[in-house]
Amino acid sequence: MLNGFTLQAAELTAAAYENMDGLCLFLCKECLAALSKLGLPQQVEAAVETYAKRHEEMFEMGTISELVLPQEAGLLTVVIAGCGAGSECKPVAFRKTAGAAARALRKAKVARAIIAAPILTNPKRGAYLEAIVEGLYLGGYTFTEFKSKAEKSVQCAVTLLSKIAEAEDLVKKATISAEAVSFTRDLVNRPGNVVNPQTLAEAACQLAQELPLEVEVLDEQQMAERKMGAILAVGQGSVNPPRLITLKYNGAADAPYVAYVGKGITFDSGGISIKPDTGMGEMKDDMSGAGAVLGAMKAIASLGLKCNVIGVLACAENMPGGKAQRPGDIVTSANGKTIEVISTDAEGRMVLADGVDYACKLGAKKVIDIATLTGAVIIALGKETSGIVSNNDELVEQIKKAGKFAGESFWQLPSLPECKEAIKSDVADLLNSAGRPGGCITGGLFIGEFVAEGIPWAHLDIGGTSTSEKTEGFKVKGGTGFGTLTLIKLAEML
Ligand code: BES
Ligand code: MN
Ligand code: ZN
Repeated sequence: MLNGFTLQAAELTAAAYENMDGLCLFLCKECLAALSKLGLPQQVEAAVETYAKRHEEMFEMGTISELVLPQEAGLLTVVIAGCGAGSECKPVAFRKTAGAAARALRKAKVARAIIAAPILTNPKRGAYLEAIVEGLYLGGYTFTEFKSKAEKSVQCAVTLLSKIAEAEDLVKKATISAEAVSFTRDLVNRPGNVVNPQTLAEAACQLAQELPLEVEVLDEQQMAERKMGAILAVGQGSVNPPRLITLKYNGAADAPYVAYVGKGITFDSGGISIKPDTGMGEMKDDMSGAGAVLGAMKAIASLGLKCNVIGVLACAENMPGGKAQRPGDIVTSANGKTIEVISTDAEGRMVLADGVDYACKLGAKKVIDIATLTGAVIIALGKETSGIVSNNDELVEQIKKAGKFAGESFWQLPSLPECKEAIKSDVADLLNSAGRPGGCITGGLFIGEFVAEGIPWAHLDIGGTSTSEKTEGFKVKGGTGFGTLTLIKLAEML
């Protein structure tokens, strides 16, 4: 049971339609012609065809149409999930539409649903099946942990009909991925008085108990021994001390390790460079990068992927206080570079400086960091697309490709050598902030300064995508878990 749904696969037969109170059909315009392949009860097929003749708009991607038909044992709710026309009919469309379908099934209080789609009669369309499963679970996500009275919701058992031989395995795989994204969303949605660096460390230790993962948690003393002056500076203003958390997954013998490094600011007040009051509470989501890394590690280990991955979570709480770092301070990071603190609100890049350096010292041969690093990325790319700053075009292409499989959008920003001039300091090696122009680029380039020479690296700025203001497709208002799925798919590809 995940998010109110249990999913299982079954072979497409006429008998499969017995005993359902809900039927969900995924249809694109062209798919309609193949409706008869589904072997639906005759009166259902006739009703859908009649409805389709009058309602062309039902095929529009993401559109949900609902019919209620009488059947022997009560009523049958038919949810038609529109999947577009022509080239729109891709797994990405199915993932989004499945999210909306999940909410329609729940609203109609369906308890036993069948999912059928003409495209799933093609044994080679496993990617569509995976997308439906992921979308259904994620669209059904709710965050009710802090409601004192549990809302009564119908649990829905779903059977997916197909002619795909490996359907059962695909359902299992997609369920693990959706579980991981839901796990990330929970972490992001929980407030700062519940999630702090220590509780994230405990969550990581818990995963290491359940799964083939090795965990290490560095506390302040251990970070001081390793001269991690940048993350320590960010954390020093809070009573909740910083933690550097590492999870190691070895699924491919002695193959090279890739590192995922997440920004884990469990609350970002801005520090002494304090943020305005309006919207400050949203900064509980400033650990979304670390959350995505944790979720991805959970799935990678559960799936037993044949790859080697190190997950690093650079965690701190950014608070003002008598011990907090000041604007103007100069601190020394673990790789020896000195940083002039222009703004204590540019703290993400500081924790990541020590984070990516540590990943390289652990022997990672590729580094990907993920962070709610800037508000500037929202100005540049909006709330649907994450920014990439990188030193390696091949790695960027791989990330964009993994993102396509995951239904997550990425766009690379130019990082000309000239842009590096902006983060040079007069009194130290680097400035932690170069102000507003190209804020997403300079923020990324700063982190790149701490990646070891010759290591392919990419920085993913999820400042705009980590939360959503509306429930739409497989996204639900609040934490999106953005990046989790891409990092899972990337681990499969690398
Ligand atoms: N966590 C914020 C970035 C952020 C802000 C993400 C709003 C999503 C929504 C980050 O730590 C920050 O404060 N960045 C500053 C950087 C500046 C001081 C160089 C920003 O974006 O204004
Ligand atoms: Mn900040
Ligand atoms: Zn921040």
